[in-house]
Amino acid sequence: MEDVTNVMVVEHKLILRMVALVERNSALVEEGKFTDWQFFLDAVDFIRHYADRFHHAKEEDTLFTALMANGMPETGSPIEAMHIHHEQGRAFVRDVEAAAKKALAGETGQEAIIVENARGYAALLREHIHTEDNILYPLAEKTLPSDVRPAMLKAYDRAEAAVPADFTDRYTKMVEGYEGSST
Ligand SMILES: [Fe+2]
Ligand SMILES: [Fe+2]
Repeated sequence: MEDVTNVMVVEHKLILRMVALVERNSALVEEGKFTDWQFFLDAVDFIRHYADRFHHAKEEDTLFTALMANGMPETGSPIEAMHIHHEQGRAFVRDVEAAAKKALAGETGQEAIIVENARGYAALLREHIHTEDNILYPLAEKTLPSDVRPAMLKAYDRAEAAVPADFTDRYTKMVEGYEGSST
């Protein structure tokens, strides 16, 4: 039977590398050792385009839809929890962006807002990805019938064709660049 979740497990690994950077740099902001506010705007860009519009869209438009079509209820189920997490993540990201933009423009006192929301996002995403990798995706592999899978893989291909050819490469390089810089 064709695997319909591994592609997203792989994407989680890059997302978790950005989450680790967000955690590392939030700790440094708190210690007064990090003032590269552009990092937080780049993290927002990564989260919005790679983690959300690209990765979460595959989940919401294809995987979750397939699970619901095959018997999983939309409410009171892991899918409802995952949808709520995606929305909560978007709210944290909006607050990080607003505060990082102010900090970049020279407004003082934004550090605590950036750190609180960046950490809120990081904790949420770690928990979220853990649930998907260990509960929801294995459940999907166990329950989705083989005849729905080819169409799901085609939908993933369409999602990948809808972004620029260097999309994943560009965001991988962004992560690598910040991993390579010590502050
Ligand atoms: Fe998700
Ligand atoms: Fe995910």
